[in-house]
Amino acid sequence: MPTYTVDDVTLHYAEYGSADGLPVMLLHAFPLSGGMWQPQAEALVASLGCHVIVPDLRGSGASSVPLGPYPMERMAADVLALADHLGLASFVLGGLSMGGYVSFAVLRAAPDRLRALILADTRPGADTADGQRAREGLAQLAEREGAAPIAETMLPNLLSATGLASGAIPDRVRALILANSGAGIAGAARGMALRPDASDLLPTIACPTLIIVGEQDLVTPPHFAQTMFESIPNATLQVISDAGHLSNMEQPDAFADIVEHFLRALPTAS
Ligand code: MLT
Repeated sequence: MPTYTVDDVTLHYAEYGSADGLPVMLLHAFPLSGGMWQPQAEALVASLGCHVIVPDLRGSGASSVPLGPYPMERMAADVLALADHLGLASFVLGGLSMGGYVSFAVLRAAPDRLRALILADTRPGADTADGQRAREGLAQLAEREGAAPIAETMLPNLLSATGLASGAIPDRVRALILANSGAGIAGAARGMALRPDASDLLPTIACPTLIIVGEQDLVTPPHFAQTMFESIPNATLQVISDAGHLSNMEQPDAFADIVEHFLRALPTAS
């Protein structure tokens, strides 16, 4: 896996397809890593010849675990540094859940870099005080006991009942979570607790935007997607049935088809 460095922090990313394809950067959910995007990355290369870039955000996957917290603005700066590293003047940015929170921070920092935006199973609002306290509890649990109790606590909310019963999907989600360190999970949890409300950004989004949500998403239920759809000028909304929060992992083909259809309609995509 290739790497780049930001202020002495080594960050990993995966690249799929050839560098002359439409650049599409996909940001992962918490507390997973870029591996969650593999089916969609492969599908977009096969169908559209895209150049798909999948970072492991700081503290996750094979990336370094610097001292936290990791504010969304910090991770957005990492994303923009990766785009610079790859020489991408502009790119399609997609993020699921925490990946969406980071996408909002990229949008605030550098809206002109985005050719299109994909917001999946995410929400624009900040955490409530109760939500921040829960994040701190989760961060402390991760620091004390590592990723295992985090996986067991979070899994029931990440997938639909059908997905949870399937065996293979929860196993895949669990494996991605267990590969992360407690310190990295804590850094991201505390970073999410610090994020500002991004609702003010929604009416300013100038690029084509695709909003996707799993019909049974318990973490960021479909009403958040509906609100974003109503507030973003050039938006499309797609609801994926038989999917919970990690809609791309539960329905990989449906998710990839939706993204493919969206990218095909972009003026610059062939
Ligand atoms: C995620 O999927 O990234 C997280 O569940 C988001 C959150 O906890 O707000």
